[in-house]
Amino acid sequence: MKVGVIGTGYVGLVLGAGLSETGNHVICGDIDAAKIDMLNAGGIPIWEPGLDQMVQRNRDKGRLRFTTDIPQLVLNSTVVFIAVGTPPQEDGSADLHHVLSCARTIALTMDGYRLIVVKSTVPVGTCDRVRKVVAENTSHPFDVASNPEFLKEGDAVQDMMKPDRIVCGVDSARAREMLEDVYETFMRTGNPILFMDVKSSEMTKYASNAMLATRISFMNEIAALCDVTGADVDHVRRGMGSDPRIGSRFLFAGVGYGGSCFPKDVKALVATGHEHCLPMKILSAVEDVNADQKRLLVDKVVCHFGHDLSGLRLAVWGLAFKPNTDDMREAPSAEVIRGLTALGATIVAYDPVAARTAAQVDCIGANPRVTILTGSAEAALDGADALLLVTEWGEFRNPDFDDVKSRMRQPVVFDGRNIYDSARLRAMGFTYYSVGRP
Ligand SMILES: NC(=O)c1ccc[n+]([C@@H]2O[C@H](COP(=O)([O-])OP(=O)(O)OC[C@H]3O[C@@H](n4cnc5c(N)ncnc54)[C@H](O)[C@@H]3O)[C@@H](O)[C@H]2O)c1
Repeated sequence: MKVGVIGTGYVGLVLGAGLSETGNHVICGDIDAAKIDMLNAGGIPIWEPGLDQMVQRNRDKGRLRFTTDIPQLVLNSTVVFIAVGTPPQEDGSADLHHVLSCARTIALTMDGYRLIVVKSTVPVGTCDRVRKVVAENTSHPFDVASNPEFLKEGDAVQDMMKPDRIVCGVDSARAREMLEDVYETFMRTGNPILFMDVKSSEMTKYASNAMLATRISFMNEIAALCDVTGADVDHVRRGMGSDPRIGSRFLFAGVGYGGSCFPKDVKALVATGHEHCLPMKILSAVEDVNADQKRLLVDKVVCHFGHDLSGLRLAVWGLAFKPNTDDMREAPSAEVIRGLTALGATIVAYDPVAARTAAQVDCIGANPRVTILTGSAEAALDGADALLLVTEWGEFRNPDFDDVKSRMRQPVVFDGRNIYDSARLRAMGFTYYSVGRP
């Protein structure tokens, strides 16, 4: 099949690469000429395990091409996915102008039937708006379908090639058949392709992310209560998670959720509620808890060292919003670093892959109190008054704690992800703080 993908970011690039891997001819388009030049020159703009090889393989075979010429993409595709960004506006609602401008370009260019598939995360009713824009600008037949993306950054290739489920919102048999054709090879393991009406499909994406964010904030609130009562949130998590009605995943307390999806999608759902005079009380609380949680490590550092942190050198391990990605969007590390440097601390930070993207975040890259290291995690510890573990990359899980201690000026560890054994660290002479564990 001839497929076009408009928007070559985390979602569009993974989608384009995955569809070309199964033999489709895919053109990925973007308005960002630097990104397209890099891809055409053999580079890759994001760090995602396994993606560079998959892109290279299909680019070399001529099945995956990149362009800034969106009309050419439309003319050469039967199915056109829209995978552009839908960032939050000031009131929290999703900014749809990229999606709607793509719809207009498609309509003005198409020379026959097209299936237009909205892959971006969009509020309920957006596909109707896309349909209206297209109908106003073309006389050719078309369908609009919703096909939200559920990939997890860091596991995106795996999620693309072996999805848990694929959700498609359609309102015509033709659209359904075409999407079955596109996705048939990905569903051979028996995981479902779920067809439903378009609005339910749009809502399914937001409801899924909102549920996951809710679990995180719920556990963080329980962890705060554990902190003051002496219970251990790790035991509580295991005790709860063994109940199959609850399940064990997404119950980890930590420094709050970040990334390009949860924060913006929770806000957008709250905004949709407002539009319909329906306050989303649970989700507003989820957001509040998360905002506090991102400051938790700052509060713990202040509790230990006092309000004046000047003269202190703090090592930060992990900057990306989660492991296995270089994505810094809404990363808790930025909030932690902003808070600590405002109180006078100097930061030496290390992340295995996110140094470049972190340097583009103002409160990190443009902050004279912050140094980002790329060489080794251990070097960040030299002369440090404390270590703050912010992102649980695999390489931080089992460090040589004798070496860690010998490098530091004061052996104090703030573990924002509960990955270390508190008894072991305390026995070694560390002062150790974690989240919701005594
Ligand atoms: N990143 C994720 O993990 C993830 C997961 C599921 C869903 N989503 C959703 O998918 C959508 C895309 O997210 P992303 O993370 O890939 O965003 P991104 O910012 O990484 O990429 C979006 C791309 O779209 C391009 N673009 C914007 N307007 C354009 C236009 N008019 N024509 C052509 N290109 C245009 C941008 O230049 C950018 O390269 C969002 O709605 C997001 O919520 C993201």
